[in-house]
Amino acid sequence: MKFKRIVIEKIKSAKKGFALTGAGISAPSGIPTFRGENGFWKDKDPRELASLEGFEKNPERVWDWYNERRSIIRKTKPNPAHYALTEMEDSFEQFAIITQNIDNLHEEAGSRNVIELHGNIFRNKCSECGKLFNDIEQLEIPRCDECGGLIRPDVVWFGEALPKEVLQRAIQWSELSDICIVIGTSAMVQPASSLPLFARENGAFVLEINKNKTVISSYANETILGQAETILPELSKIGI
Ligand code: APR
Repeated sequence: MKFKRIVIEKIKSAKKGFALTGAGISAPSGIPTFRGENGFWKDKDPRELASLEGFEKNPERVWDWYNERRSIIRKTKPNPAHYALTEMEDSFEQFAIITQNIDNLHEEAGSRNVIELHGNIFRNKCSECGKLFNDIEQLEIPRCDECGGLIRPDVVWFGEALPKEVLQRAIQWSELSDICIVIGTSAMVQPASSLPLFARENGAFVLEINKNKTVISSYANETILGQAETILPELSKIGI
């Protein structure tokens, strides 16, 4: 696969970089995206399934849906795009993966510096006292052993703020990186989709990899249209 000279130069010269990833990087592993042709939100209402209001209205329904997603994700494994990013980590002095995904696949691929903006589906927390719990495989919604509150997935729902320290770390990376590689995100959700813009405003080279054009394409230095699972393994060879 041939890349433009500017892309090669920027990858080779960058000291500090980050990748912002979305559902598109996990799609080749078999995990549905949200807004694509078979996306979750095509026939489901995010307010019912991925919001505190939806959880308070019908906690069992929300717990069931996350159980369904966990059972899909448990059967999947990282794909070449995830592994390519672990290679890239080694070719930069400093590299972070800032992901919107909650599927744990970057960690499973061996990435060491992962910032999970929206949490992790295999971590749970009490909806009352906030106590954290690891993965819980049970059909009926569990209750906290400390306070008896209902347990929920430790993920960020619509209408909820990202954990402050997570967002601060992500913004720091976006302000101090020489390169930002945006992979498989429709860039429809804030504050994640502002990170490439912050990076660009701070002088970083913004490279987008997506099957389709997105709002990022309007200001990215380069957009490579195609499948992340074929592009990234080739891109990761540049830095070596
Ligand atoms: N290679 C590259 N890009 C791909 C691939 C692929 N193999 N498959 C899909 N894509 C792209 C699609 O073109 C689309 O732009 O991935 C993007 C997926 O977009 P969304 O489904 O909107 O997922 P994402 O951007 O991660 O959503 C952000 O929205 O619902 C919330 O919290 C949820 O984290 C999620 C956030």
